Amino acid sequence: MKSLVALVLLGQILGSITTSPPFPPLNTRLPACDDPEVEHAAAFAVHHINTHTLHGYKIALNRIESVKVLPRRPKGDMYYLEMDLLETTCHVLDPLPAANCTVRSKMEHAVEADCDVKLLSLDGNFKVLSTKCHSSPDSAEDLRKICPDCTPISKLNDIGVVNAVDVALSEFNARNDTNHYYKLLEISRGKHTHLPPASHVEFAIVATNCTAQEAKDHIEDCHLGTGEHVHFGFCKATIFDRTVAGPADAKFPPGDAVDCTIFDQQAGFSHTHLTEHHLGKKIPSPGVGHTVLDLIHSHNDTHASHESHSAEVAVVEVASPVVKRAVDPVPVAPILPVLQQCPGKYHHFKI
Ligand SMILES: *[C@@H]1O[C@H](CO)[C@@H](O)[C@H](O)[C@H]1NC(C)=O
Ligand SMILES: *[C@@H]1O[C@H](CO)[C@@H](O)[C@H](O)[C@H]1NC(C)=O
Ligand SMILES: *[C@@H]1O[C@H](CO)[C@@H](O)[C@H](O)[C@H]1NC(C)=O
Ligand SMILES: *[C@@H]1O[C@H](CO)[C@@H](O)[C@H](O)[C@H]1NC(C)=O
Repeated sequence: MKSLVALVLLGQILGSITTSPPFPPLNTRLPACDDPEVEHAAAFAVHHINTHTLHGYKIALNRIESVKVLPRRPKGDMYYLEMDLLETTCHVLDPLPAANCTVRSKMEHAVEADCDVKLLSLDGNFKVLSTKCHSSPDSAEDLRKICPDCTPISKLNDIGVVNAVDVALSEFNARNDTNHYYKLLEISRGKHTHLPPASHVEFAIVATNCTAQEAKDHIEDCHLGTGEHVHFGFCKATIFDRTVAGPADAKFPPGDAVDCTIFDQQAGFSHTHLTEHHLGKKIPSPGVGHTVLDLIHSHNDTHASHESHSAEVAVVEVASPVVKRAVDPVPVAPILPVLQQCPGKYHHFKI
């Protein structure tokens, strides 16, 4: 009996530190991962992640790994979802809806994110209570298998990537049709090719209130807008290796391609936090030492934890029904997951 009490206590402790109780209580529902109800919850969670992400690219659902639904007192349901997501080619600042964004192909070196999400379903509405994500690029071996000539993505603070971004931004700012001088916001992706020797980079930019000429004369007087008055853009560039391509004195050798899109300002869309994050230099860029901007860094997280909780998380955690199981130690529920139809189908491709 003593050991049973200890087990129950342990269960309660574990239940309070992990996202779900260690043993599913008897009233746990285990719908199929591809059930429309589960797909609906997942779509809501994906939208939440896309609209709360501060770095890198929007993501798309690839597969629902697991799902568990627990009743919550006095009413509602708690959904515990594990999802596999894929990076799209839309930067998070791009106003294009994520559903209209293209998933990055394996040839381009795909990036996968795993997310554990806890949602509350109440009166037909979902609310995301916590998300815990981690993104990682497809392995270099996988890339070589499908594309022997493709090069893997480089670290975001790779000197060649950083230099290529500097050159690309200078080229963009030097164009006569830009009436604003733009600053770098973040480097989102970079890789090098050998034939021809070039760097391929993608980066986000933000407008200052200066023209290129004013920036040349008084860069210290050039400021970013605030609140909704910040102009963002996103650039893709191919920059040829200065030491190989073109005459040595050519500032911008022919062949470089710099393609920037300046986004329309979006009403109610403030990214002050993002600009502070990047340009206030309070926090080192999450790209340092990494090839991808990990989703774990993307949320508005002030503490060191990799889990982002909404402020309301404390009020919804229900007393774990594990306590009730003390009178019935026969583990019936843990057998159920075997019967559950999970994981679900791949929406895009296996990675
Ligand atoms: C997004 O896709 C939908 C459906 O294909 C289309 O109706 C809509 O115009 C697209 N939106 C944008 C901004 O491209
Ligand atoms: C900008 O305009 C000036 C004069 O119109 C022209 O000489 C110069 O080549 C232009 N620069 C670029 C980068 O297009
Ligand atoms: C940019 O904004 C700052 C602060 O609002 C101001 O001091 C500066 O004069 C502005 N620069 C230009 C070129 O308008
Ligand atoms: C991010 O944090 C700031 C300051 O802590 C807060 O004002 C803002 O509403 C938060 N944004 C999101 C999306 O949680």
